[in-house]
Amino acid sequence: MVERTLAIIKPDAVERRHVGSIISRIEAAGFQIRAMRRMALSKQDAEGFYAVHKARPFFGSLTSFMSSGPVVVLVLEAPDAIRTWRTLMGATDPAKADAGTLRKEFAESIERNATHGSDAPETAAYEIGYFFAGVELS
Ligand code: CMP
Repeated sequence: MVERTLAIIKPDAVERRHVGSIISRIEAAGFQIRAMRRMALSKQDAEGFYAVHKARPFFGSLTSFMSSGPVVVLVLEAPDAIRTWRTLMGATDPAKADAGTLRKEFAESIERNATHGSDAPETAAYEIGYFFAGVELS
């Protein structure tokens, strides 16, 4: 089934100029990019986006990191997009990520881990709406 997911290229990867490499990998993997924006998240934006992690000990640090510099947010479309994008990203912790995954190649640490992807259809709908509300996805 054709599906959509939200992807974020995080501040660590933008700062280190990995945006082009990551987008090339996205297209090579067969995704259509339905929407894309480069933007700076405020601390409040990051807290809203990651509200599900509010009780976690890393919440403050994560939201500071995510608002520390620009990000690139994308809507990716493909059959089984959520699972396919998570497989391409690799494990959250780059030390545990498989060879050939984006996080193995580009991530610095479990927090500064280069990319984000939605984890379920309901999350994808929420996350796409968070950044692209009212935007027609062509
Ligand atoms: P992401 O896929 O965006 O989802 C939640 C984020 O929290 C995750 O990537 C990491 O950036 C961060 N994260 C998850 N676990 C930890 C942890 N143990 N310590 C610090 N940051 C974490």
